[in-house]
Order: sequence, then C-alpha cells, then structure tokens
Amino acid sequence: MARSALLNVMIQAAMKAGRSLVRDFGEVQNLQVSLKGPADFVSNADRRAEEVVFKELSRVRPDWGFLMEERGAVEGRDPQHRWIVDPLDGTTNFLHGIPNFAVSIALERDGQIVAGVIFNPIQDELYVAERGGGAFVNDRRIRVAARQRLPEALFGTGAPFLGHGDHTAYLYEIRQIMAESAGIRRIGAASLDLAYVAAGRFDGFWERSLKPWDVAAGSILVREAGGFVTGLAGEKFDHLKGDIACGNEAIHKALVGQLKTATDKRARAARGAADSAAAQ
Ligand code: IPD
Ligand code: CA
Ligand code: CA
Repeated sequence: MARSALLNVMIQAAMKAGRSLVRDFGEVQNLQVSLKGPADFVSNADRRAEEVVFKELSRVRPDWGFLMEERGAVEGRDPQHRWIVDPLDGTTNFLHGIPNFAVSIALERDGQIVAGVIFNPIQDELYVAERGGGAFVNDRRIRVAARQRLPEALFGTGAPFLGHGDHTAYLYEIRQIMAESAGIRRIGAASLDLAYVAAGRFDGFWERSLKPWDVAAGSILVREAGGFVTGLAGEKFDHLKGDIACGNEAIHKALVGQLKTATDKRARAARGAADSAAAQ
C-alpha cells in the first residue's frame, strides 16, 4: 500500500508508544501479586506513552493541536489540524495483566477524521486507514464481514461500570441483542472493537458515552473497510459525541433496529411502572 508521509509519522508514533507500553506491561504482570497493586505504575505507563506520542507528532508538525486523554485539548497555531490520541486504550485490561490494549491516533482536518492508526503492540497488529485509501492491518487490505443476518452476527460492545454510564439502558440493549444474535464480546478496548469490525472479526459494535479518542481512529477504519458508522439511532456519526453503532450496511441497519426496540421496551416498562404506582 502507498502511505502518505503523515500516516508514516502516525505509525511511527504509535509503534514507539506501543513499545513503551509493552515494556511497562511486563512490570504490571509482576506487580499484580503485590499488595499495593499496579495502579500508580499504570497511570505512569499511560502518561509515558502519551508523552512519546506527543513528542513524535509535535516534532513533525509543531503547529498542530492535540486532543489527548491525559493532557486534554492542546491548542495549535494551525486551526485546521488536530491529533486525537488515546495513548493506552484498554487501561483496565492493562491494569489487570490482560494483553488486549492499543495506542490509537487519529488526524482531524477541518473537523473531519482523515486518517487513523491503531496499534496492538502485544499482537503486533497495526491497523491503518486514510480517507479514500482503504483500511489495512499489517499492510493487508481489510473489509467488514459479509454476513447479512443477525442470527449469524457476532457483536462487540462496551459495558458501563461503577459510576459510569446508563446501566439500565445497557441492560435492555444487551438483553435484546443477545436474544437475536450469535453472541456478544466485551474485549475492553473500543479502538480494537472498531478495528475488529473493520477486519471482519466482529460483524458489528455499539457503545454509548465513549470519548473522541476512543472512536476517532476506529471510525475511519470501519468506514474505509466498507462499513457504516452512525450514532445509536442511526443519526450522523460525530466523533465528538460518544455514541456509536457500526457494521456492514445490513448488520448496521439491524443493529440500529434492535437498539430502538430496546429503547422502546425500556420506555414501555417505565410507563408500566409509573401507571401501577399511580394506581396504588
Ligand atoms: C475505555 C475502553 C473501553 C470502553 C471504555 C473506555 P480506556 O478506554 O475503550 O473498552 O468501554 O468506555 O473508556 O479508559 O481504557 O482508555
Ligand atoms: Ca480509551
Ligand atoms: Ca486511555
């Protein structure tokens, strides 16, 4: 594949940060059994990886801004371009010694994502996409899966956890999708979920309340692999809003339909509960 110079810069930054994470991951595995646990060490590993990406990218394009998980927004002099970076997606996996995490870097131009790189350093899988140029893993072209029917479709998703997200909405969604599909996986790194949709491993993926750095690179990968990416109700996707549903055309449509059914069931149950409370 012919890569632009910018994509090469993104790849270099992601791989360098990935190597830093792999070194730290070895130590995390040792700390697992210690009483204090690896939490502080992991925050530092995260920050170290972000520093690597920040240095690499700002060296090449000193005028461009950033939106990064740890640093937040860093204004650049160039109003057109911004890097959107998650230096460690899958922190909880990393913290628990589970080897499923990634570095995710996207390039935003005039508010649109035009390139994305996701690197899983343990599996040595490098996913890349540029607008109009297709999606690739380790230089091999990838496409979304061809499966058309829900009963054959495997979905990735992200479950909310303590103190985060709308647990009730998610329980309705998961109940709906698990009854209609071939299965659900929660692999703990949204960037890799999206990369898996792009590579045809997952047929679809949905999650709500994600951050721009969780979805920016993955969304262009899925699109360049021929997939559809929208919000949960099928509305235009906005990487600055956190909700995402994707898959090939048929599975995406079916997924959005099932999510609507879940929302309707929840509303009906809430109305039912309100009616019976009023009747008492
Ligand atoms: C998280 C992962 C996870 C998703 C969470 C994200 P982090 O990112 O992508 O899969 O379910 O909502 O916050 O915290 O590991 O960078
Ligand atoms: Ca993340
Ligand atoms: Ca992160």
